[in-house]
Amino acid sequence: SVSKPLAGVRLTITAGPTREAIDPVRYISNHSSGKMGFALAQSAAKLGAEVTLIAGPVDLQTPTGVKRLDVESAQEMLEAALANPSDIFIGCAAVADYRVANIAEHKIKKNAQSGAPQLELIENPDILKTIAEQNPAPMCVGFAAETRDVETYAIDKLKRKKLALIIANDVSNSDIGFNSDNNAAVVLSADERVVFEQQSKTSLAHQLAHYIANHFHQNFRR
Ligand code: PMT
Repeated sequence: SVSKPLAGVRLTITAGPTREAIDPVRYISNHSSGKMGFALAQSAAKLGAEVTLIAGPVDLQTPTGVKRLDVESAQEMLEAALANPSDIFIGCAAVADYRVANIAEHKIKKNAQSGAPQLELIENPDILKTIAEQNPAPMCVGFAAETRDVETYAIDKLKRKKLALIIANDVSNSDIGFNSDNNAAVVLSADERVVFEQQSKTSLAHQLAHYIANHFHQNFRR
C-alpha cells in the first residue's frame, strides 16, 4: 500500500561500531553511536518492513516493532547477518576492518623490560560484500564513510561490493556523521545521484527509507 510500502518485506540492518578484543579488558573500536542505523531501522519498521537490527555495542533504545540482536565483533555481526536472510540488507555499521590476530587470554601487563607490546592485526570479513554474494542475494545498500573524495570512493565501494545503492556521508565534518544528531548524504546507484541536505538523522532516515522502498519496488520486487 502507499503508506506501508515495505509491508511483508524482510529488512536486515547493521548499526553501531564493532568491538575487537585485544585482551579481556581492552578493545579496538570507533566513534559510531548507532544513531543513524537505529533511526533507519525505526523508519523502515514504520513503512511496514519486518526489521532485524544487528547492533554493535551502543547505548540506544530498541526502536518499536524491531527485532534487535546485539553483537560485539565483526565476526559475530557477520554470523548474525548470515543467520537472518532478508529482501533488503543495509550496512550502516562502522565495522572494524581489522581485528587483533591473537587475543591475549589474560590482561596484558605493563612490562618495563620488553617495552611496548606489538599488536598484530588481520583483516575482518566484509559483511556487506559477503551478503551481496549470497544466492539469492537481497538488495544491498551500503554506507560510505569518507573524509575526502567522498563520491569517488563511494562509487568504488558501490561497484566493488556489488551494491544496489550506496549512501555516502562526509565524516570529516563533525557536525554530521559519527555520533552527531545530524547527517547529510548523497545516494548513488548505477544511474542515480540524489543529494539529501543536512538534517536530523531521524528525518534523513525517514527520507532514505522511502527512497530505498521505491528503489526496491522499481528494481527488485519480482
Ligand atoms: O552510528 P552514527 O554515530 O550515527 O554514525 C553514522 C555513520 C557515520 C557510522 C554511518 O552513517 C556510516 O557511514 N556507516 C558506515 C561506516 C563505515 O564503516 O563505512 P565504510 O566506508 O568503512 O564501509 C563501507 C560499507 O561496508 C558500510 O556499509 C559498512 O557497513 C560495510 N562494511 C565495511 C567493512 C566490513 N568489514 N564489513 C562491512 O559490511
